[in-house]
Amino acid sequence: MNATRQLVWDLPTRIFHWALTASLAASASIALLTHDRDSLFPYHAILGLILALLVVLRLVWGFIGTRHARFGSFLFGPVALGTYLRGIFTNTAARHPGHNPGSAYAILAMLLLLGGITITGVLMSTGTRGLKDAHEVMTYSLLGVVAAHVLGVIAHTIRHRENITLGMIDGKKACEPAEAIASVRPAFALLLVALVSLWSVGLFKSYDPATRKATIPLLGTSLKVGDAGKQGWNGEHRERRRHDD
Ligand code: HEM
Ligand code: HEM
Repeated sequence: MNATRQLVWDLPTRIFHWALTASLAASASIALLTHDRDSLFPYHAILGLILALLVVLRLVWGFIGTRHARFGSFLFGPVALGTYLRGIFTNTAARHPGHNPGSAYAILAMLLLLGGITITGVLMSTGTRGLKDAHEVMTYSLLGVVAAHVLGVIAHTIRHRENITLGMIDGKKACEPAEAIASVRPAFALLLVALVSLWSVGLFKSYDPATRKATIPLLGTSLKVGDAGKQGWNGEHRERRRHDD
């Protein structure tokens, strides 16, 4: 194989990756390290709503993005996954210019779990009971997949002496020149940054700590972020109702 590094990841894919990493790290840390009565706790849901927009935009990009960002380029069947995983242990796993079958399954699982976490989170915030366990189980499953993803990246880096993390920053990976993409799609990158910034500013500005409510931009829906169906919050807990956790 021609080992020169070629441009394979467009700019929106890279921005999506690091925005997703940062907001998930922040949201999960707040949710797991603070109590649900803590004044910081609602921010885990606000960050979760930012993650939700990132996921929606990544889904769109999976259809209109450049070749290695498209879902069609990394939808592998279970046989391809089995062959790839066996190949890791026998050192015969094929190299892929885009996502390999292992990372492809991890990526799809992360997107699906993020979708499930958002839906259960929003439903709890609108008063639906009995979803907290599902919300938490999906969170722990997501963290498990993220750990496997990062371990996979580290294993690849050591085994092939190839810094693929740098690839998610400068967009390049060692592969045939024919696999390279022609453009980093700067206009779409700008649009992505603008949309996510507007959405984030809208959410943070609408949040009222006294009522623990935030308004979803564009939809105008008001959500009691971060505590499931409790009544009055004003820094102190006025009415302590037993809820279904
Ligand atoms: C919260 C943590 C993380 C999440 C949720 C996450 C998620 C993802 C997703 C969704 C993709 C697919 C990108 C796309 O096609 O849109 C991806 C790819 C990638 N990520 Fe992460 N990531 C995380 C942390 C990291 C870290 C810490 C590193 C570096 C050590 C890393 C390195 C990479 C690399 C190198 C790829 C490309 C893999 C390939 O060649 O198939 N990720 N990640
Ligand atoms: C990836 C993003 C998210 C993660 C990692 C996450 C994680 C968690 C975790 C671990 C808990 C349990 C905390 C505890 O009681 O100890 C929790 C609770 C909760 N989350 Fe999330 N969450 C996310 C997104 C959201 C979103 C988007 C919403 C709503 C808009 C939301 C609403 C809630 C609510 C209402 C609770 C229940 C709090 C209570 O006990 O009353 N979450 N979340």
